[in-house]
Amino acid sequence: MEALGRPEVKLSGIDLEIHAAPERYREVVAAIREEPKALGGLVTTHKIDLLAAAADLFDGLGPYAKATQEVSSIAKDAGMLIGRATDPVAGGLSMDAILGEGYFGRTGGEVLMLGAGGSAVALTLHMMQKARPVDRPRRIVVVNRSGPRLARLQEMVERTSVEGGQDIRFKFIQNSDAERNDKILAGLPPGSVIVNATGMGKDTPGSPLTDKALFPADSVAWELNYRGELDFMRQAGAQAGARGLTIADGWDYFVHGWSQVISHVLHVEIDAAMFARLSHLAAVVR
Ligand SMILES: NC(=O)c1ccc[n+]([C@@H]2O[C@H](COP(=O)([O-])OP(=O)(O)OC[C@H]3O[C@@H](n4cnc5c(N)ncnc54)[C@H](OP(=O)(O)O)[C@@H]3O)[C@@H](O)[C@H]2O)c1
Repeated sequence: MEALGRPEVKLSGIDLEIHAAPERYREVVAAIREEPKALGGLVTTHKIDLLAAAADLFDGLGPYAKATQEVSSIAKDAGMLIGRATDPVAGGLSMDAILGEGYFGRTGGEVLMLGAGGSAVALTLHMMQKARPVDRPRRIVVVNRSGPRLARLQEMVERTSVEGGQDIRFKFIQNSDAERNDKILAGLPPGSVIVNATGMGKDTPGSPLTDKALFPADSVAWELNYRGELDFMRQAGAQAGARGLTIADGWDYFVHGWSQVISHVLHVEIDAAMFARLSHLAAVVR
């Protein structure tokens, strides 16, 4: 807040249990809405549940909140309470920085998305909306433990395809068996991008892959988290040299996510220089 010239603004946390009762989400959103001194909020784990419970308390939703049906940013624009989803932009900026321009045209790689939750929806939407064919993978394989999240992502893909018309082929697989994930991994071409969007290695122990999994040559292993046991990153790290892997964690994604929300809430533009400054300040207390 000091770096942004607003030292009087205080951050305060509200802790809700996972899948809290809808009334709890409504209380929180209503409190922000009604308290003039509350400028807004950043939503972490509860992005989907909060919108499902309190959609009618918002005066408007951003396009990504509508597309992904989740809210990570709550801000007041000219007295109106606006909900936005920041993961497509934050995750997208981070993905673009890891892959660089024209990655899929250059490598012919595909994408394996392990997990079909909020971040998988956001990153999939980001790739689908890429204007240039060289920035879109030929194929995205999505694996998820349970059916409903997979169906929700599939529904978003179908809706977006109708609106935008695009050429990515999708395969949706319901699975939580790590050995089967190893086999799916082995079927990917060199240069593929493998994303651990399951939360395993931070939210829950382990990895969606076994220690015997072999990453495709020259592939990118992207762990969306930056803290925790990070077993998926350890597995990729053990073969990084031999297989020519690029390994990335979720730090930039995290800093981009916060920057987006703070920019909405305080109505300040965070340019590249300010982003670098905030990223540095955050790294100091990482
Ligand atoms: N760095 C950042 O700023 C940043 C930003 C966003 C997210 N993240 C992290 O990325 C992770 C995912 O986030 P999210 O918001 O997408 O979480 P989420 O909505 O909870 O989604 C996780 C998904 O992974 C599935 N899953 C769990 N274990 C699995 C397994 N072994 N095999 C296949 N699927 C499995 C879950 O399936 P079910 O349907 O069965 O539950 C769920 O759909 C979290 O750890 C989060 O902290 C980091």
